[in-house]
Amino acid sequence: MSKPQVCTINRQYFECYVAPFAGYKGDNLFWVILKKLSEKESDLKNSIRDRVPEDCLIGSSAVMCKLQNMATRVAKTDATVMVTGESGTGKELIAKLIQQNSRRKEKPFLIINCNAINDLLLESDLFGYEKGSFTGAHSQKKGKFEVVDGGTIFLDEIGDISPRMQAVLLRVLQHGEIVRVGGTSPLKVDVRFIAATNRDLVKAVKDGSFRLDLFYRLNIIKIVIPPLRDRKEDFLELITHFVRKYSALFGIDIDFNPESLSKQLEAYDWPGNVRELQNVIQRAILMSEDGILSADAFTFDNSLVDKEQSNTLSSVIKRFNGTPLKSIVDQVEKEIIIEKLAVNGGNVANTAVKLDICKAALYEKMKRHDISAKSLR
Ligand SMILES: Nc1ncnc2c1ncn2[C@@H]1O[C@H](COP(=O)(O)OP(=O)(O)OP(=O)(O)O)[C@@H](O)[C@H]1O
Ligand SMILES: [Mg+2]
Repeated sequence: MSKPQVCTINRQYFECYVAPFAGYKGDNLFWVILKKLSEKESDLKNSIRDRVPEDCLIGSSAVMCKLQNMATRVAKTDATVMVTGESGTGKELIAKLIQQNSRRKEKPFLIINCNAINDLLLESDLFGYEKGSFTGAHSQKKGKFEVVDGGTIFLDEIGDISPRMQAVLLRVLQHGEIVRVGGTSPLKVDVRFIAATNRDLVKAVKDGSFRLDLFYRLNIIKIVIPPLRDRKEDFLELITHFVRKYSALFGIDIDFNPESLSKQLEAYDWPGNVRELQNVIQRAILMSEDGILSADAFTFDNSLVDKEQSNTLSSVIKRFNGTPLKSIVDQVEKEIIIEKLAVNGGNVANTAVKLDICKAALYEKMKRHDISAKSLR
């Protein structure tokens, strides 16, 4: 029998395995001590949990204050909101802030990733279906829009939505009604929409990949979150928040100087924005020795910056001296894709946007170069 931990010890185990060896003479003292130890451990765990700050929007730079203010004001209305900003800037956090401050806060908050699911699945999942409307539709099923009634729907990555779903969504936004797949009669639904994207939707409208009418329906209130590198005033607060949060979560006491750390971290470009800062801090806390957090403990993917600097045209030419042109192009293409995927945390959709090619083309290139997005997450 393996030895259980103190917190899971029970009376029977105690009497069989502990008492005989500990000189237990029938009084309860030893047992009581063990029980107390186990309670202390669970108290400790609870107190750590209590000290971990909840996910909240941090930052009191002028632009973030304006943004928070706007989010809480629009929360009181039912207006559709479009949140834009680079990856990791906090679009989902803003959407949650709006929901939490709205009259719908006790109702469901449903996140729909518009690029993740195929059209028919998405449509039947969202709007439900009637019995017999397609193979496998053995009974009628309510869709998420009906289930979420009264709540908020967060349309994430709206810039990647297919043309067919754009048309369907437009109908919902215009009339507040849905029709189940295979159904005929419209059903009224009461949902509030918040959409988000890191794509340039104006450009998408111009090149015809995003409908203008849908664009106007979604863009009633527009919230633009600036990249972290453009709001340096927020560093101090963000760093302090994340160090507190993760040191409590990991149970590691950390000593650090927020001001000097902030000065040092501001110098980096933070292409992955707040998400990247959060990850870097987590890693540094876990790797810290003697509970001291200094800038040396932080590791960024500086290799990307170094590579950019060293890859001047002449060094590229020297490196590929004598190589056929096609191999050079292939090799450079592969390196660029790997680099961009790494910066975007392995997110193919975001990388495609950054490279200004469509997702399908990027997948094709990744397949050809044998690149796995998973390994770059
Ligand atoms: N201002 C902030 N204060 C505290 N945490 C933040 C802030 N901004 C972002 N974060 C944190 O950073 C992470 C990324 O945020 P979020 O998922 O909202 O970004 P996003 O803009 O939706 O990114 P993506 O475009 O990649 O989906 C989350 O863990 C979030 O809690
Ligand atoms: Mg997001």
